[in-house]
Amino acid sequence: MSPVTDRLKPALDAIGEAVDARFDRLLGVPEDARAPLYKAMRHAVLGGGKRMRPLLVVASCDLFNVDRERALRVALAIEAVHCYSLVHDDLPCMDDDDMRRGKPTVHKAYDEATAVLTGDSLFAVAFELLADEATHEDPFVRSELVLELARASGPAGMAGGQMMDIAAEKSRFDLPTTTRLQQLKTGALIGYSVEAGAIMGKVGAATRLKLKGYARDLGLAFQIADDLLDVEGDPEATGKALRKDAGAGKSTFVSLLGVERARSQAELLIDQAINHLQGFGAEADLLRAIARFAIERDH
Ligand code: IPE
Ligand code: IPE
Ligand code: MG
Ligand code: MG
Ligand code: MG
Repeated sequence: MSPVTDRLKPALDAIGEAVDARFDRLLGVPEDARAPLYKAMRHAVLGGGKRMRPLLVVASCDLFNVDRERALRVALAIEAVHCYSLVHDDLPCMDDDDMRRGKPTVHKAYDEATAVLTGDSLFAVAFELLADEATHEDPFVRSELVLELARASGPAGMAGGQMMDIAAEKSRFDLPTTTRLQQLKTGALIGYSVEAGAIMGKVGAATRLKLKGYARDLGLAFQIADDLLDVEGDPEATGKALRKDAGAGKSTFVSLLGVERARSQAELLIDQAINHLQGFGAEADLLRAIARFAIERDH
């Protein structure tokens, strides 16, 4: 592990435990015919993943002294959407993967129909969490949380990026198009994770702009790191199948720039991301550490 990964580990472990405990409480398995759906949802969200998006939510909420329990509700919402996106991404009609987070994918452990419904249900649970009064007393704040997550997940966000990603196997995308693809597919949900703190803290436009800049560069660098791991990573450490993108003929930063230039680009983006945090003091150190982790990780 790199020193950065080492330093962030306690924070990642703590958020992992907090997220697990709350999903466990939220998703009790009913004693009726819906039981397999709940079990599959638990399979998708419990005990795995880096929990980087939840940590980003908490780190950005901490900048504005947002109550931790409320921040965790938003963290759970974004992780639910992320896990839904992974369950569907792994389906045979998409990436057709058997392993995720070191476990069988949901359609392998259950079946395809259950995996589709698991994604649908996690998506709905996310908005249920956000719209509940327990997340924020101000209905305008709740409405903005819902609006921005809807935007970040839908056709102008993650789902749109996934559509472009499918097209990236058939047509050769240039660098600007690939950048847009990654910003939608991965950047939008990472951006939301950071923006959520600003929404919860009701902060002004100037502060938001800084956080937006940080998140935009971080999201892009994070996906470049994912594409680098696909080429150079260890399937044991990542808990998923690797060496898939090149075989699928997919345009990525790595296929367009090569490994070395893609890595330099990711490093440049992370320096830029951290520069956007100028004006924040030590309270933003966790965001700075997450940015380094995003490209130095081995999983
Ligand atoms: C994987 O995301 C999919 C991408 C958007 C690159 P993560 O690398 O955050 O996956 P987990 O949550 O740690 O499993
Ligand atoms: C998935 O990207 C991104 C989303 C689920 C939105 P990838 O297909 O590259 O992610 P992995 O490599 O399967 O985790
Ligand atoms: Mg994919
Ligand atoms: Mg995939
Ligand atoms: Mg990948």
